[in-house]
Amino acid sequence: MSRAAFARTSPDAPVPQTDSLPSLRDAARNCQACDLFRRATQTVFGEGSEHARVVVVGEQPGDQEDRQGRPFVGPAGKLLTRALAAAEIHPSEIFVTNAVKHFKFEERGKRRIHQKPNTTEINACRPWLAAEIASVKPELILCLGSTAAQSVLSRKVGIGEHRAKFMPHPWAKYVFITTHPSAILRVPPEDREREYDRFVRDLKIVGAWLRGEHAA
Ligand code: URA
Repeated sequence: MSRAAFARTSPDAPVPQTDSLPSLRDAARNCQACDLFRRATQTVFGEGSEHARVVVVGEQPGDQEDRQGRPFVGPAGKLLTRALAAAEIHPSEIFVTNAVKHFKFEERGKRRIHQKPNTTEINACRPWLAAEIASVKPELILCLGSTAAQSVLSRKVGIGEHRAKFMPHPWAKYVFITTHPSAILRVPPEDREREYDRFVRDLKIVGAWLRGEHAA
């Protein structure tokens, strides 16, 4: 499919019916299914192992991800990388992506401040996420935070209620929800270590499950 031939221009327009991540990535570059494409630098598609056992789903690209065109390369990504290593989840086992593929922000002076995507934007992007996951065919979808959980489960969910549970899902054997690393970076400094440890504890459950050491 040529790049110019495909542009999604409405939230309910389908994405290309293909199993190929490069084709999906190419087609997603032109997505105009919601208004976020207007101000973002570029579409930030997922990356990682094409046959990953785990797809990690974040919220949306941040400032640095928007500039570099790659997911989780900013401060939240660095924290995620550290926590995955602490949980002994190897990068070769994961594919990392976001529920929403364009950066939503408001400008404050020279800074671009993250804004949470709304339900219309999450739903408009959901077909891309579904297609990525269908291509990778992971055993587990790891949702970081409420936007990822809302997109994957197709409804708003409270993290507290669903955190660290193996939930059966049609897109993978299980969905597992934990906090978003940006939420850890936002808590007061005196609470940060405790929240980070809790995050790692959740990821260790996933790591143990992947190694067959923990039943779901
Ligand atoms: N936060 C996200 O949810 N995703 C990114 O890619 C970066 C920060």
